[in-house]
Amino acid sequence: MAFVVAVAQRKGGAGKSTVAANLAVALAASGARAALLDTDPQGTLTRWHGLRPETALPLSFESPSGWRVPQSVDRLRKEADFIILDTPPHADTDSRIAMRAANLVLIPLQPSVADLWAMEGTLEVAAAERRPVALMLNRVPAQGRAAEQVAATLKERGLPMLPSPFGNRTAFAAAFAEGLGAVESAPRGQAAAEAHALAEAIRREAT
Ligand SMILES: Nc1ncnc2c1ncn2[C@@H]1O[C@H](COP(=O)(O)OP(=O)(O)OP(=O)(O)O)[C@@H](O)[C@H]1O
Ligand SMILES: [Mg+2]
Repeated sequence: MAFVVAVAQRKGGAGKSTVAANLAVALAASGARAALLDTDPQGTLTRWHGLRPETALPLSFESPSGWRVPQSVDRLRKEADFIILDTPPHADTDSRIAMRAANLVLIPLQPSVADLWAMEGTLEVAAAERRPVALMLNRVPAQGRAAEQVAATLKERGLPMLPSPFGNRTAFAAAFAEGLGAVESAPRGQAAAEAHALAEAIRREAT
C-alpha cells in the first residue's frame, strides 16, 4: 500500500511544486515506486513533467482535476510505494480533497511571517480532515537567523518539523526548468543531498 503525501500550503510560491517534484524524484532514486500527481489547475508540474527527458528516473505521473483526485490515488495505491500530491494555493476545496486522500500533509514554509500566517489556514484544514502534518523549511537563506526563529516558533507550538530543510539554491530552480529533480541534474550537489534527506525523512514518517 502506498504512503500518500499531500504537499500543501495556502501561501502561493511557498515551494509546494518544487518540494513535491524533488521528493518524488529522490524517492524514485532510492528505488521506490513513486507517483506524482499534479492537482493544481495551474499545471506547474504538468509542464515540468512534459520536459522530462527519456533518461530521467521512472515516475508515474497524472494530473487529475479536483474531484477525480481520490479515484487516481486509489488506483495508484496498489502500484506505488509513495504517492506525492502537489496542491494549489488559495483554493481550499481542492487542497482539502487532496489532504483527505493523504496519510501525511507536508507543509513547506519559507522562513517568513507571511508563510507562518498562511500556514494557519492549511493547519486548520488538515485538522478538520484529521490528517497528521509535518512542516519543512524551504528556501532557507545561507545567512541570518530567520530559519532558527521560525523553528523556535514551531517548537513552542508543538508542531512537528522535519529535520530536512531545503536551502535557497539555484540548483532547485535550474533542475526544475529542465523537468528534473536536483538528484538527477546535479547528483553531487547540496540540493541533491537535501532532497535525499527529505526522502529519507518521509520514509521514516511512513513506517
Ligand atoms: N529551495 C528553493 N531554492 C530556490 N528557489 C526555490 C526553492 N523553492 C522554490 N523556489 C522557487 O520559488 C518559486 C516558487 O516555487 P514553487 O513553484 O515550487 O512554489 P509553489 O508553492 O508551488 O507555488 P504556487 O503556490 O504558485 O503553486 C519558483 O520560482 C521556484 O523555482
Ligand atoms: Mg505550485
